[in-house]
Amino acid sequence: MEKLLNLISEQVSAAFGAAGFDPACGRVTVSNRPDLCEYQCNGAMPAAKTYHKAPIQIAEAVAAALAGNPAFSEVQAVKPGFLNLRLNPDWLAAYLESMRTAERFGVAADPKAGTVVIDYGGANVAKPLHIGHLRSAIIGESIKRIQHFFGNETIGDTHLGDWGLQMGLVIAALQDRQPELCYFDPDFAGPYPEEAPFTISDLEEIYPAASARSKVDEAFAARAHDATFELQQGRPGYLALWKHIMAVSKADLHKNYGRLGVHFEVWLGESDAQSYIPSMIDRMREMGLLVESEGAQVIEVQEPTDTKEVPPCIIMKSDGATLYATTDLATICQRMETWKPDRILYVVDKRQSLHFEQVFRAARKAALVGPETELRHIGYGTMNGKDGKPFKTRAGGVMRLETLINEITDFVRAKVEENKLVTGADVEDTTAKIALAALKYGDLMNAPTKDYIFDLDRFAAFEGNTGPYILYTIVRIKSILARCGAWEELSIAAPETPEAKDLMLALTRLPDALELAYRDCAPNAICAYIYELAGYANKFYHETRILAEEDKQKQQGYIALIGLTKRVLETCIDLLGFSAPEKM
Ligand code: ARG
Repeated sequence: MEKLLNLISEQVSAAFGAAGFDPACGRVTVSNRPDLCEYQCNGAMPAAKTYHKAPIQIAEAVAAALAGNPAFSEVQAVKPGFLNLRLNPDWLAAYLESMRTAERFGVAADPKAGTVVIDYGGANVAKPLHIGHLRSAIIGESIKRIQHFFGNETIGDTHLGDWGLQMGLVIAALQDRQPELCYFDPDFAGPYPEEAPFTISDLEEIYPAASARSKVDEAFAARAHDATFELQQGRPGYLALWKHIMAVSKADLHKNYGRLGVHFEVWLGESDAQSYIPSMIDRMREMGLLVESEGAQVIEVQEPTDTKEVPPCIIMKSDGATLYATTDLATICQRMETWKPDRILYVVDKRQSLHFEQVFRAARKAALVGPETELRHIGYGTMNGKDGKPFKTRAGGVMRLETLINEITDFVRAKVEENKLVTGADVEDTTAKIALAALKYGDLMNAPTKDYIFDLDRFAAFEGNTGPYILYTIVRIKSILARCGAWEELSIAAPETPEAKDLMLALTRLPDALELAYRDCAPNAICAYIYELAGYANKFYHETRILAEEDKQKQQGYIALIGLTKRVLETCIDLLGFSAPEKM
């Protein structure tokens, strides 16, 4: 469907043409003086220069050419040469009616849509999921849904950190705890037990202790390094342990991501990229890209236009070990081979931006991707506590994601129970949905790159620019609709009040908000839009007697309007990654 602004711009452009002026002057914008008009066109001002005429004369001629145009109820030429426009209510209703009946509200898919890999989540296996990874999960999930909405095939890959030193640390620590286990016996002929010799709570205790110990105990650190190396070389007992660690961790990650409403199409990790490394390095060498620097093999990525230093991308250390960047490059090979994506989006902490700059440049130099494939790092800022420093537990430690979700849930449940919003079996469902909305909206309303302060009181408030406020607006509409019988087929009617018209005009701005969110990978554009839309919806609801309206035709128009509003709001929060309860 054509966007409303384009449709009315066409009309005004045609009127410029009919009055003998350049149609290009007919561009219409949303009014910056809503008290005077809904839309405006300022094209008479530049036209005045070309045609050596007073702008007001031009504006008057265009206004005359627009007389009787079905799109407008009011066209005014005002000094010095503005055209002030108001939409014809019937025309607006017809426009919204086509939006109501169109697929995806008539928002056009991206004509260049293709296959998009979204690399987000990025949890590290064996380490507890902590809030450092929260934003990646929340923002990445939303960006994925937005990409999908615009017609792309989307593949969310959590890219687990499953091949690093943390594995060696856990293995070395396990060996100290239970040296008798068959995994450490080099002569063991198998098969290894099905059951893991530890639980997730054991793991959660083992890793932090081992990590702390490796910093003070050199011998232990060396053993952990050796274990990592032997694992990577394929020592059977260590591989078997690694599989247990993976299974136990993944089950826990599934649970926590599930509670966050975050779902990955694939659960690949750093380990899955390893088999691509040897041939990739051979190719880089054949292309003459690898140079030696302090014993390591690196690719130079500095460009003459750089204003800052961009250090070379290290591919292999002198001992033959490969690095984080090597794995990311190999992962690009794997993704190109498996999906041939048109775009790979990395939703990762913005402190890794230099890493991605190096990786992207190296990938292009080595032609791992062609020029048609876009590589983009969407770096996000930090979630801070009220002290402005990265969010911590009360004891000052790194907060686990599960703890944070539990805290928010308890806080919201207390509110739900205190205000008797719902009772009985509905309490948990409503609580979970409000809690998720509070957490996600509180994050997504900020541009991804910005740091923000986590403030539970503010995020969970039912008033103001919050997730619960949006849910409340939707639930309120739902409760009216529940008393209206079949509302889905009712048609939008011409607005009778300013509140109805404002709500309708806000609905027509949906495509702009979604396109902005899509183009800039900025879910915050959707938050800003639904906050505005919810405001108009609530005003309309306050000023209009919907259920008590006696004129049935009028009433049906109202119901259709709030029905459309509800569907738009629900679509938008789905793109943000949460949903509304039935009651609250
Ligand atoms: N596991 C990494 C970390 O915790 C994040 C992975 C991000 N994705 C990537 N392709 N490098 O920092």
